[in-house]
Amino acid sequence: MTRCFLFLLLTVRLATAEDGANAWLRYAPLPQANNNHSIPLSIVALGNSKSSPVYTAGQELQKGIKGIFGKKLSTNGTKDTSSSIVVGTIDAYKKAYGDFDEADELEEDGFFLSTEGRDVLILGQNQRGALYGTFAYLSRLAQNKLSPISYVSNPHAPIRWVNEWDNLDGSIERGYAGPSIFFRDGFVVDNVTRVAEYARLLASIRVNGIVINNVNANATLLNARNIEGLGRLADAMRPFGVQLGISLRFDSPQTFGGLNSYDPLDLKVDAWWANITNQIYKRVPDMAGYLVKANSEGQPGPLTYNRTLADGANMFAKAVKAHGGIVMFRAFVYDNHINPGNWTADRANAAVDFFQHLDGKFDDNVVVQIKYGPIDFQVREPPSPLFSTLRKTSTAIELQVTQEYLGQQSHLVYLAPLWKEIFEYDLRVDDRPSKVKDIISSARFNRPLGGSAAVVNVGTNMTWLGNHLAMSNLYAYGMMAWDPAVLPEDVLQDWIRLTFGFDRQVMNVITEMSMKSWPAYENYSGNLGIQTLTDILYTHFGPNPASQDNNGWGQWTRADSTSIGMDRTVKNGTGNAGQYPPAIAKTYENIESTPDNLLLWFHHVPYTQLLKSGKTVIQHFYDAHYEGAATAQSFVMLWQSLKGKIDSERYEHINFRQMYQAGHALVWRDAINEFYHNLSGIPDQAKRVRNHPYRIEAEKMALSGYKAYAVSPFHTASGYTAIVTTSNSTIGTATANITYASGTYDLAVNYYDLIGGRANYEVSINNRTIGTWTGDLEDQLGHAPSIYLDGHSATRITFKGVKVNTGDILKIVGRPDGIEPAPIDYVSFLPPGIVD
Ligand SMILES: *[C@@H]1O[C@H](CO)[C@@H](O)[C@H](O)[C@H]1NC(C)=O
Ligand SMILES: *[C@@H]1O[C@H](CO)[C@@H](O)[C@H](O)[C@H]1NC(C)=O
Ligand SMILES: *[C@@H]1O[C@H](CO)[C@@H](O)[C@H](O)[C@H]1NC(C)=O
Ligand SMILES: *[C@@H]1O[C@H](CO)[C@@H](O)[C@H](O)[C@H]1NC(C)=O
Ligand SMILES: *[C@@H]1O[C@H](CO)[C@@H](O)[C@H](O)[C@H]1NC(C)=O
Ligand SMILES: *[C@@H]1O[C@H](CO)[C@@H](O)[C@H](O)[C@H]1NC(C)=O
Ligand SMILES: *[C@@H]1O[C@H](CO)[C@@H](O)[C@H](O)[C@H]1NC(C)=O
Ligand SMILES: *[C@@H]1O[C@H](CO)[C@@H](O)[C@H](O)[C@H]1NC(C)=O
Ligand SMILES: *[C@@H]1O[C@H](CO)[C@@H](O)[C@H](O)[C@H]1NC(C)=O
Ligand SMILES: *[C@@H]1O[C@H](CO)[C@@H](O)[C@H](O)[C@H]1NC(C)=O
Ligand SMILES: *[C@@H]1O[C@H](CO)[C@@H](O)[C@H](O)[C@H]1NC(C)=O
Ligand SMILES: *[C@@H]1O[C@H](CO)[C@@H](O)[C@H](O)[C@H]1NC(C)=O
Repeated sequence: MTRCFLFLLLTVRLATAEDGANAWLRYAPLPQANNNHSIPLSIVALGNSKSSPVYTAGQELQKGIKGIFGKKLSTNGTKDTSSSIVVGTIDAYKKAYGDFDEADELEEDGFFLSTEGRDVLILGQNQRGALYGTFAYLSRLAQNKLSPISYVSNPHAPIRWVNEWDNLDGSIERGYAGPSIFFRDGFVVDNVTRVAEYARLLASIRVNGIVINNVNANATLLNARNIEGLGRLADAMRPFGVQLGISLRFDSPQTFGGLNSYDPLDLKVDAWWANITNQIYKRVPDMAGYLVKANSEGQPGPLTYNRTLADGANMFAKAVKAHGGIVMFRAFVYDNHINPGNWTADRANAAVDFFQHLDGKFDDNVVVQIKYGPIDFQVREPPSPLFSTLRKTSTAIELQVTQEYLGQQSHLVYLAPLWKEIFEYDLRVDDRPSKVKDIISSARFNRPLGGSAAVVNVGTNMTWLGNHLAMSNLYAYGMMAWDPAVLPEDVLQDWIRLTFGFDRQVMNVITEMSMKSWPAYENYSGNLGIQTLTDILYTHFGPNPASQDNNGWGQWTRADSTSIGMDRTVKNGTGNAGQYPPAIAKTYENIESTPDNLLLWFHHVPYTQLLKSGKTVIQHFYDAHYEGAATAQSFVMLWQSLKGKIDSERYEHINFRQMYQAGHALVWRDAINEFYHNLSGIPDQAKRVRNHPYRIEAEKMALSGYKAYAVSPFHTASGYTAIVTTSNSTIGTATANITYASGTYDLAVNYYDLIGGRANYEVSINNRTIGTWTGDLEDQLGHAPSIYLDGHSATRITFKGVKVNTGDILKIVGRPDGIEPAPIDYVSFLPPGIVD
């Protein structure tokens, strides 16, 4: 009987393929007989306007309880004699039922949830709070957390926004999940269904604002048709309590409005902004406000007119003030043409240099939005010193759910532990406790506004982010913006239960993979605070350490043949350490007190410098890259242990990405190790680097229709060389005698998958086909594409358990397609247990 029941459950569950569109709001039936838990019989939603969050809350309760318990509750607005779920604002509750004790404890957007009495009470300080409480209740039910509770929850800070970098043409800057859900062909989309669904997801994690367009903004957003479109978007988001915000282009009065200036102190310019702002608010009366990137990376700004950044920010602040709007002004201002030959020049100093003297000069409705680190979303950075510098200015932290420098959603990297380190970092301003999380709220400097903004690259892909597992980052962002004190692992496990259900092994495996993922990525990309070491001049995806140096972008490593690292000391370097409060500055000024993981961020040292771990810098590089890549291999095994426990649609989707990550982690490992081995000439003590006994280099095979090709950057090819077909219509053949002992091997082929072609490959042994494949990753993965043979396009395919005899002939046939000349780097014959 029991077995039969379980079997039924299993088949039902596995039959339902899941595309991820419902994310963590699946409301899947509870697995056990636990659904005889007593659930109230009706829903009373104290608010009936269809665009009100309380009305939405009533609908959501009905939907959730139907899904979880299979019961349809009425939502007709009366509290009958049996028990009810009552949801509404405190004021509405008081009006209907009299007083309520906890009312005074609620802050803006906060809620009270009680399941202890006969009725379930979900009361918000405002309508939005009531909706948040509703999602909190449903999340408990969906996670089988049925014990009675009663609590008040208030937000850590008022601003909990996301920033979309969507362009009007429908593309997304750093987008890896398909085109925009907001724009198409220059205009706001007509069909706002997905925008409403996105707002629902955001409401469930208590995010209250979306800036819908790229910070590299386009003035045509302000034309009449698009303003009407903004209204449509805001209408779709309003029922979820999510406000709309937009990014502005500073020179719009001139390029779009036809004025001859965009000087913020020119009255005509002010009047123009006031007028356009009034027009927008006429259509979107509750618009959250503006986001502005000015005088950065080629964007226009007030400095053109010798006005300060505060003058620029305040111009917008005045325009939105009467409407209750705010201005998020980005601190990401720096000169991207600084001189790499100047030892004391430092992009990391820019934010403090530009903003410190403006503290106190910003209007009250301006918030300076500061990236978490001084450079740009690297795998490890100290917090920006600007957090400790601005005391009379409201500030917000800018995070990235978008994995721009962290594997672009093709690698699993759970980011909450990184954010947690930054939030909890104590900057010791005036020698007092000054955690970053308390600086961005009113707690430390008593500022009226503040909070967080995360860049999110949601696209039209049904998975939202292009990878089911990447959704833990979006979920964690919202929950940590609401309460930075939560533990990353707890948030993760809530998300796992909501997304994948209750299986213990599923929980353990996804927890293990996720919690190991950021350390693993740091290990196989850039270590010891040297930054991610990805290609900063092209796609920000694969390895290219040389791209950091000798250009004006200032993401320098200053690596030469004997030493590496940025000297950011006051005594002999850029002085960046001195931008921190004295206790922190002292720590970073000295090598001895600088933690290993930021050593190369603050110091220029020989490769032979000893770390606190006892290793040299260079040996740490080698070891970390082997360790990180090995961890990425283990993710495949871990994931595959879940086969049968997760619907096949999501299982296969994630399995494909884990295999991809495992292969690309090896590309990273070898490229970085080879680069620094080549530069320093210092061998790996463990003799792994440049020693690959299981590989057959493609360029050493007998070639016909193929030719050798020197790859650039050189270290992204084994032996610096790959093969490509001699023309775009020649079929290439590469053959080799197998000299390995007879036995069973995993056969791995490293090749390059370029955008703009889908080459076809066949690998055989003694004319027995082992496998065929197509270079079509561009159809499978969303990461930024490459048109070259390089660290972005380099990848691996593995065929397991291949029987070979000494003397067999290995043959690969490559058919080029488009610009993809069927490129191959090497073939590995891997004995059991070996990955190389
Ligand atoms: C469900 O209800 C039945 C009968 O009321 C009871 O015997 C059983 O223990 C309940 N199951 C759970 C898991 O609460
Ligand atoms: C609300 O629903 C209950 C139960 O279905 C019903 O008894 C009651 O008459 C309804 N009230 C209204 C105002 O429709
Ligand atoms: C602004 O958007 C329009 C419409 O998509 C496009 O034609 C124009 O090139 C864009 N301008 C900039 C500066 O991106
Ligand atoms: C709007 O978009 C949704 C979601 O993509 C789709 O299901 C629906 O059919 C679209 N509606 C129209 C009228 O095109
Ligand atoms: C405001 O802008 C609208 C549309 O561009 C224009 O028609 C109107 O004249 C402007 N009003 C003022 C006072 O500039
Ligand atoms: C800004 O100041 C610089 C140096 O003082 C001067 O050369 C330049 O003409 C000024 N620009 C404007 C637009 O006033
Ligand atoms: C080097 O950079 C520092 C800091 O930006 C600057 O003060 C100095 O003038 C620069 N030196 C030279 C020679 O350009
Ligand atoms: C989602 O993206 C993946 C590749 O990342 C692709 O295979 C799939 O077709 C996309 N689906 C939709 C509906 O866009
Ligand atoms: C001090 O700075 C110079 C460059 O100005 C650099 O060459 C040297 O290595 C640094 N000395 C120390 C002890 O870090
Ligand atoms: C394989 O070995 C045989 C005998 O040594 C040699 O004649 C042949 O050219 C080799 N083939 C390849 C593809 O290297
Ligand atoms: C593979 O097939 C080719 C052409 O049919 C033949 O010449 C060759 O001897 C075969 N090689 C092996 C190892 O069987
Ligand atoms: C091969 O390259 C030529 C010259 O660039 C181009 O005209 C032709 O279309 C290409 N052929 C294919 C199949 O891509």
